[in-house]
Amino acid sequence: MGYNVAIVGATGQVGREMLAILAEREFPVDKVVALASRASQGKEISFGDKTLKVQALENFDFKGIDIALMSAGASVSKLWGPKIAALGVVVIDNSSFFRMDKDVPLIVPEVNASALSGYTKRNIIANPNCSTAQLVVALKPLHDVAKIKRVVVSTYQSVSGAGTQGMDELFKQTRAIFVNDAVEKEKFTKQIAFNVIPHIDVFLEDGSTKEEWKMVAETKKILDPAIELVATCVRVPVFVGHSESVNVEFETPLTDKRAREILREAPGCLVIDKREDGGYVTPVECVGDYATYISRIRVDPTVKHGLSMWVVSDNLRKGAALNAVQIAESLINRYLKKSA
Ligand SMILES: NC(=O)c1ccc[n+]([C@@H]2O[C@H](COP(=O)([O-])OP(=O)(O)OC[C@H]3O[C@@H](n4cnc5c(N)ncnc54)[C@H](OP(=O)(O)O)[C@@H]3O)[C@@H](O)[C@H]2O)c1
Repeated sequence: MGYNVAIVGATGQVGREMLAILAEREFPVDKVVALASRASQGKEISFGDKTLKVQALENFDFKGIDIALMSAGASVSKLWGPKIAALGVVVIDNSSFFRMDKDVPLIVPEVNASALSGYTKRNIIANPNCSTAQLVVALKPLHDVAKIKRVVVSTYQSVSGAGTQGMDELFKQTRAIFVNDAVEKEKFTKQIAFNVIPHIDVFLEDGSTKEEWKMVAETKKILDPAIELVATCVRVPVFVGHSESVNVEFETPLTDKRAREILREAPGCLVIDKREDGGYVTPVECVGDYATYISRIRVDPTVKHGLSMWVVSDNLRKGAALNAVQIAESLINRYLKKSA
């Protein structure tokens, strides 16, 4: 016996990956429904070797649905998440809306699957921001061994993190530059083609951005509130795959060799770290993969116990859709078991 799963935001970048990953991982489904805005009603979308007809969220009857995977933005989650959850459907939400709600677990299964039990309070489970997800996958196994004091992270985030509109803008601007047309911007605050923009989400009073704040607050909620973290989040002209330069300061000594051994064994991590030309991972190589890749592991000699590393992952997968499906897998294995 399988589960009835609704994908809310199925026509988006994350929604399409969710459908692909459910099929790839053979998630036990009886029925999958694809939901989006009214504008997409009737469109066709692939699910494995099947084709689904997109239905409008606002007209859909959730009766009989077990799990809703939501990725339609914070305003849709705010309005619809609680309504869907109240019908007995477990909502696994990708937006930022519920992440810091104390009654909503914020889950990266490799890191804090045990916190999942708290989902019964609201019937809602949150996914972290894409940059946080890959970061905590890499930090957790090191934190278990040498206790992390402080992290300094700079991100190099792809335009798909800003959804379909972000990808379209990079494509159109790149083409415009090649054919000598005017460069137009709508989604990003500055030209993104052949440029980098040190600004993601809105500015906060202290001069940081909300994206940077999310990395701090979410790392504390998922991994350890004692960890001090400072982030600089930067949008780069890459279609898919977020990269992070990470400096970690530990309480106790940890050599780069030991860190490499620990990360090689850690769930979700893949170490590619040859100290030679090309012996590291770049975003184009992680697209379509499940892993969080870790390269350039080395000692940071400027602090007592420090390491630096380079962390890359597919933001649409580990940063969003894969993480959501992994949460759904943990949920059905632990709490929503159906007998065969
Ligand atoms: N991209 C990432 O790396 C990433 C990572 C983590 C979390 N997230 C989060 O995931 C969510 C979606 O991101 P995305 O990149 O997939 O965006 P996207 O490509 O812009 O897709 C947005 C989806 O939401 C649907 N939608 C919009 N308004 C709706 C409404 N009123 N009712 C029903 N459906 C509606 C859209 O349907 P139509 O096609 O019909 O408009 C589309 O399916 C966002 O909350 C984002 O913050 C994204």
